[in-house]
Amino acid sequence: MNCIDSRTSRRRFLTTALALPLVAIGPASGQALPLTPACGEKPGRTPSQTEGPYYTPRSPRRSSLVEPGSKAERLVLTGVVLSPQCKPVANALLDFWHCDEGGEYDNQGFRYRGHVFADAQGRYSLDTIVPGEYPGRTRHIHVKVQTAGGRVLTTQLYFSDEPRNRSDGIYRGDLALQVAHKDGRRAAIFDFVVAV
Ligand SMILES: [Fe+2]
Repeated sequence: MNCIDSRTSRRRFLTTALALPLVAIGPASGQALPLTPACGEKPGRTPSQTEGPYYTPRSPRRSSLVEPGSKAERLVLTGVVLSPQCKPVANALLDFWHCDEGGEYDNQGFRYRGHVFADAQGRYSLDTIVPGEYPGRTRHIHVKVQTAGGRVLTTQLYFSDEPRNRSDGIYRGDLALQVAHKDGRRAAIFDFVVAV
């Protein structure tokens, strides 16, 4: 589980250091263990963003959006869905959509559109491609995260090393994926913190 953002790790460390003397720790105390500060901080929730003009409801359920024969760079996106108290949110629905490698959305069908469900531990996984860019926006992936209780977070995910991030007014660094390059693919992690 990874809900740590390196850019705020120092702040988190300080928060932890300040919080520890106030919290009883250990099974002998009979107290609950302290929450992971990253999830308890404010604003701890994943920020919402506009869904934009290209959302299509009722996408197919599938764990891979990769088109047969696609030569585009692969992206494997994984993470967990957490509550603000850093507890796993089971069975959330994550509905993804993004443009193809040429920057085009499929607005008639469901290419590069699909949803997955998180498991009982809040874990999700999606196999897709690195989306292209289109005029006016930096590279991004759209997603709606719906909890079993029906709350919906609509947001976008980004790549921190994109030159266009600086000129895209919607871009947020705290919505950037943590990306590692391996085996010719990008392995990306993003953990959502949602209201429940
Ligand atoms: Fe978009």
